[in-house]
Amino acid sequence: MEKKEIVLSGIRATGNLHLGNYFGALRNFVKMQNDYDCRFFIADLHALTTNPDPADLHVNVKNIVTEYLAAGIDPEKATIFVQSDVPEISELYLLLNMHVGIGELMRTASFKDKARKALGIKTDSSTPTSPEDDNIEKEIIGSDSNKRVNAGLLTYPTLMAVDILIQKANKVPVGKDQEQHLELTRRFARRFNSFYKTDLFPEPENYTFGAAAVKVPGLDGSGKMGKSEGNCIYLIDEDKVLRKKVMRAMTDEGPKEPNSPVSLPVQNLFSLMELTSAPEVVEQFKNAYADCSIRYGDLKKQLAEDILAITRPIREHIIELRNNDEYIGRVLRQGAERARYYAAETLREAREVMGIRKFY
Ligand code: TRP
Repeated sequence: MEKKEIVLSGIRATGNLHLGNYFGALRNFVKMQNDYDCRFFIADLHALTTNPDPADLHVNVKNIVTEYLAAGIDPEKATIFVQSDVPEISELYLLLNMHVGIGELMRTASFKDKARKALGIKTDSSTPTSPEDDNIEKEIIGSDSNKRVNAGLLTYPTLMAVDILIQKANKVPVGKDQEQHLELTRRFARRFNSFYKTDLFPEPENYTFGAAAVKVPGLDGSGKMGKSEGNCIYLIDEDKVLRKKVMRAMTDEGPKEPNSPVSLPVQNLFSLMELTSAPEVVEQFKNAYADCSIRYGDLKKQLAEDILAITRPIREHIIELRNNDEYIGRVLRQGAERARYYAAETLREAREVMGIRKFY
C-alpha cells in the first residue's frame, strides 16, 4: 500500500467552533481525510497555558470532539485524539526544550501578545511591532509572582513543535497566525537533526488550501470572525439565535447613487454570502446594491437562511452525538491508541539519539 503523507492539525480546547473555524479549517479537513493520513487533535495541554477553570477543560474537549465529528470528520478515516492522552508528547517536550533558546521564544509574536495580556498591558494589536515590544522583556523579568507570565506560555511553541514532530507530520494546515510557530518547528527540527546527526524529524510545511483559503469576516463590521472578538456565529447556535445575530449585523445607510463603493460592513455580509449562498443569489443582491434597490433586511434574511442550511444539520448532529458518551469514548480511545503508537516510536528514537540508554 502506498504510504500517504501525514497531515496534523490541532485546535486549542477553548470555546465552541464557529463559522470561521468551519470554513477556514474543518470543511477542508473533511476533504483531506480521504487523501492523507490525517491526525486531528484537541490541544488541551496548550489550553492550560491560560489557566482555564478545571471544571471547563474537559467540557471544552468534549464539545470540540463532538463538533469535529458532527461536521464530518470520520474516525474510520482520520485519527482524532486528545493531546493529554499521549504522554509521550510531554516527555519529548522536555527533551526538545534542551535545544530551544529562551530568546527565540521571547521574540515570538504570539508570546509577546499573551505576555502583554497576562501583565495587563494594553496595546494596539494592529501594530504588532509597537515600541512597547522592546520593553516587554523588562516587564516580564520585573513582574511579581501574582502577575506573572507562566513558563508554559513561553514554551508554547516547543509544545506545538513536538505535537507536529512526534507524529512526523509532513503537512500542517494552519492559519496565518500560526505561521511563525510552524517556522520555529522547522528550525527546531533542523537543529535537532543536525546536532544529533540524524534525520529523525521531517520538516513540516504549511498546508494552505489554495483558492479555497478564505477569510471569514465577523458580523460587527470589523475584520475576522474570532472567539475573542465576540462577533461569531457558532455551529451550535439555534435558529432563533443565529437569525437574530445576522439581523443585527452592522451595515450602513445604503447606496445613495448607482455603483457606489461598498463599505466594509456590507462587504463582509457579501463575503459571508459568497461562502454560503448560491452564486445567482449573491449576484442578485450585488446588482440590487449597484442600482440602489437593495434592502439590507432582505439580504440578511436570505443570508441567515443560507447559513442555517449549512449549520442546522451540523447542530442536529452535535445534539445527537453529545448524548452518546459511549461512542465519543470509543473514538477517542481508538484515536489515542493510534496516536500513541507513532508517538512512542518517535520518542524511543529521540531518546536513543540523545544518549538516554539503558546500560544496566
Ligand atoms: N497553536 C494552535 C492554535 O492556537 C493549536 C495547535 C497546537 C496546533 N498544536 C498544534 C496546530 C499542532 C497545528 C499543529 O491554533
